[in-house]
Amino acid sequence: MEDERLISPELIAGNEQEERLESSLRPKVLEEYIGQNKVKENMKIYIEAAKKRGEPLDHCLFYGPPGLGKTTLSTIISNEMNSNIKITSGPAITKAGDLAALLTNLSEFDVLFIDEIHRLNKSVEEILYPALEDFALDIVIGKGPSARSIRLDLPKFTLIGATTKAGSLATPLRDRFGIVHRLELYEPEDLMKIVKRSSGILEIEIDDESALEIARRSRGTPRIANRLLKRVRDYAAVLGDGNINLKITKHALNKLEIDEIGLDETDRKMLDIMITQYGGRPVGIETIATSLGEEIDTIEDIYEPYLIQIGFIARTPRGRIPLKPAYAHLGYDFQV
Ligand SMILES: Nc1ncnc2c1ncn2[C@@H]1O[C@H](COP(=O)(O)OP(=O)(O)OP(=O)(O)O)[C@@H](O)[C@H]1O
Ligand SMILES: [Mg+2]
Repeated sequence: MEDERLISPELIAGNEQEERLESSLRPKVLEEYIGQNKVKENMKIYIEAAKKRGEPLDHCLFYGPPGLGKTTLSTIISNEMNSNIKITSGPAITKAGDLAALLTNLSEFDVLFIDEIHRLNKSVEEILYPALEDFALDIVIGKGPSARSIRLDLPKFTLIGATTKAGSLATPLRDRFGIVHRLELYEPEDLMKIVKRSSGILEIEIDDESALEIARRSRGTPRIANRLLKRVRDYAAVLGDGNINLKITKHALNKLEIDEIGLDETDRKMLDIMITQYGGRPVGIETIATSLGEEIDTIEDIYEPYLIQIGFIARTPRGRIPLKPAYAHLGYDFQV
């Protein structure tokens, strides 16, 4: 469904146009990376220190919901380290040999970026441990009684792992990252800067209030902000002179059924079910998923983080509960 995709923080799989848009909008240096100040300040220091020592940067793990800039940050880090980046993902590395090949082809200080690192399989993960710890690769030669293990030296590299599910990472793997950062949803002010920066690159005329309007409806997620900007531009081209103003922005976003705070049909339906069917009592995620006809993962990765961030729902040990602002937004009285 088109509407669902619009507010999904995930990259639309196989959509070349969106992929091209993203790479053209990716900041290249830390200075251009907007928001995430804590992470940025820390990384700046770690990068400078590593360069001063003439050592590779410690292995990094970035986690948080999709579309917040994990891949972007990783390419920036390799740029700042004046090194190359090799990009792969957990599910793409199916055999131990695949990872061994990747590792032996790295150069000193290179960044190996593994997206969805929680999806690496066990046998691959075991190759990774000595590689991370000792920059070594243990390989077994021969079979049966004559088999022996030899150790190959690897170039000193930096692994950057990204995941939306830090909790699913095996503890021994997690412990091998010297730098671990959670990326947070962005505040509207930062998203507004991202919208304006993207507009500049795409040569779109947009005023501040329109940029802020898009930012407010982008669920704290740069990927969504860039996507909405592009859709609003289309409306401006057809309905106006191509320039984006507040009237066109609001019209376009309303047509796209994204409300003033970035909620779509599914969010509202979810809140409605929690309030009317369950009377605001704790509801399990499985129950919510079934009522909506959605996957549990979709709710946890796409809908819930933003609703929690804006204080519309809370997680309790017995399930999710709707909070007062959610009642108000949907026009219900809040009773306890
Ligand atoms: N801090 C930022 N400043 C400017 N643009 C950003 C920032 N973070 C992300 N973006 C933009 O948002 C888009 C998505 O970012 P990115 O691909 O890095 O997200 P991600 O966290 O890797 O997502 P996924 O989990 O789906 O892999 C990119 O086009 C990038 O230009
Ligand atoms: Mg990514």
